[in-house]
Amino acid sequence: MNLMNILAIETSCDETAIALVEASGGLRAPKFRIVSSVVSSQVKIHAPFGGVVPNLAKREHIKNLPIVLKRVFQNSPSTPSLFRVRASGSRTGPRGKFDLLAVTVGPGLEPALWTGIEFAKKLKRELDVPAVGVNHLEGHLYSFLLSKKAAGTTHKARSAKRRLDGFEFRISNFEFPAIALLVSGGHTILVLMESLAKWYKLGETRDDAAGEAFDKVARMLHLSYPGGAELEKLARKGRADTISFPRPMIHAKDYDFSFSGLKTSVLYYMKELSPSVFNVKHSTLKNDIAASFQAAVIDVLVTKTVRAAREYGAKSIMLSGGVAANRALRRALQAASRKLRANFFVPPFKFNTDNAAMIGVAGYMQYLKNKTRAIRAQGNLNL
Ligand code: KG4
Ligand code: ZN
Repeated sequence: MNLMNILAIETSCDETAIALVEASGGLRAPKFRIVSSVVSSQVKIHAPFGGVVPNLAKREHIKNLPIVLKRVFQNSPSTPSLFRVRASGSRTGPRGKFDLLAVTVGPGLEPALWTGIEFAKKLKRELDVPAVGVNHLEGHLYSFLLSKKAAGTTHKARSAKRRLDGFEFRISNFEFPAIALLVSGGHTILVLMESLAKWYKLGETRDDAAGEAFDKVARMLHLSYPGGAELEKLARKGRADTISFPRPMIHAKDYDFSFSGLKTSVLYYMKELSPSVFNVKHSTLKNDIAASFQAAVIDVLVTKTVRAAREYGAKSIMLSGGVAANRALRRALQAASRKLRANFFVPPFKFNTDNAAMIGVAGYMQYLKNKTRAIRAQGNLNL
């Protein structure tokens, strides 16, 4: 399979991200080199509002996209000169050497999605290259192909070819069937993968996503937005067995999730406490609440993933999405995978939260599957 140069663009939420991805190997043995991946976060701009403001995000994306594109090419000295020429805005370089443009079309905030789409359309016209619309969730789903190591460490894992320095990823030991757990700020989905091209959704959250629950509880603990990573820091200092928060739907026969009740339990627990408990800077109780809440979320996620892996005889388990950056979750699912003798894959930290490298990966898969998807914003797109 010939090498493809993919320029990927992601603007579904509050991260303006562009990546240059080299892909080859086809659907059977895909291989990627992340030539450059730049993410410009708007977190500070939205933080005072406690959430992402769509029109602010749109304004920032429009401002940031050309700057991020420029940085993508500055960051990649090995990039063919024509890319550098095009990025700098000069029209003297040869045209049309990109093979593919990949742009996120949903799910996400439509005003934000449109900015990336318009930017991609402009580049498509200028460079005269094909473009594919990418489902952001497929980006997360396929991000395991960027795992720097097969963390499950079965003997086969060691045969994976990996060259971390150049960000060259070729994982040769993913075996199917596989169970993929996708946990982000907007979604919590369990997927059965029969192959790289064929997969089914087994279940998803009925209310809050796991990341959303982390963010809401973080807010109750007066942590800054978005809060998931901050909550994890507190949790590390706390005791997870202090408060026994509920594990919603842990024994339900299906593969759906629910985190809204857990969040409410934390709220009720905190209402019973004197506010002065939280006014001290280093509150051990705060740490314990964080640790106990985190343990409840992880317990549900791991238990249901393991049950699905057993039922379908999974040979691999994948973890992706922003919440996959949580070290305790990574460790717990890795240990569970080892017990099941399944390979465990999780992308490096920089590819857990939103980025464009994963959009390049999913764009390649989309292109190979020859499936078309309209290049227009689809805010409610699902897997
Ligand atoms: O995938 P992502 O960047 O955006 C969406 O597609 O939603 O995920 C963002 C989510 C946020 O809810 C954030 O709080 C959560 O991922 N997150 C974490 C951690 N890092 C990010 N949650 C728990 N622990 C973390 N270390
Ligand atoms: Zn995401």
